[in-house]
Amino acid sequence: MKNIQNIRTDYVKGVLHIQDLQDSPGQQLSKWLEDAIAAQALEPNAFCLSSLSSNGFPRGRNVLVKGVEEEAIVFFTNKMSAKSADLSFNAKAGATFLWPELERQVCIYGDVSALSEKENDSYFATRPRGSQLGAWVSQQSQPLSSREELDATLEAVRKKYQDIDVIDRPSHWGGFRITFVSVEFWQGRASRLHDRIVYTKGNGGQWQKGLLQP
Ligand SMILES: Cc1cc2nc3c(=O)[nH]c(=O)nc-3n(C[C@H](O)[C@H](O)[C@H](O)COP(=O)(O)O)c2cc1C
Repeated sequence: MKNIQNIRTDYVKGVLHIQDLQDSPGQQLSKWLEDAIAAQALEPNAFCLSSLSSNGFPRGRNVLVKGVEEEAIVFFTNKMSAKSADLSFNAKAGATFLWPELERQVCIYGDVSALSEKENDSYFATRPRGSQLGAWVSQQSQPLSSREELDATLEAVRKKYQDIDVIDRPSHWGGFRITFVSVEFWQGRASRLHDRIVYTKGNGGQWQKGLLQP
């Protein structure tokens, strides 16, 4: 392997001024997501979801953000997955976006709540048919004996729905909302002296912005 100790990038693509940031973290996140899409970032809406497992270990995995609100983000998953078990054990999560193309990172933590059945239905209806079938096929995070077993289940589900136009949402599939407690915007700078600005709520319930040491 190449000597990874010598891999270094000096970050020089941008500067973050506190007065230029939006009043709410949701508005600022939307802006950065738009920038990432414009920069043709790979998977611009992917973020690492961190959760606390009941065995005491923090666990992380990537998911896709499907909604950005003034004070929250929304994602969808299988409600019987390992991550969903973690979130019912401890309804708090971290969400970390990385856009290396822009030398930017956003670190969020907040409180987790389940989306309503109505919200789940309306998003599920917009998914491609293949993904809708996939939601019926996968018992996400459970052991699988072979790929063939999964393919056979897919075939059976395909047959079941072959003459049915609208695929109903499995009750075990839905979304979560992470309501912001803290949202940090990070812009890489030269010599590791990066810009960091964090939004937290003051006593009056207003968002406040503050600088953090790099
Ligand atoms: C870029 C990317 C996006 C992903 N998006 C989702 C997603 O939106 N929802 C989801 O359930 N899994 C998504 N996955 C798969 C998860 O990372 C993970 O493997 C799966 O949800 C099972 O996680 P768990 O066992 O911790 O619950 C994505 C993976 C990658 C690499």
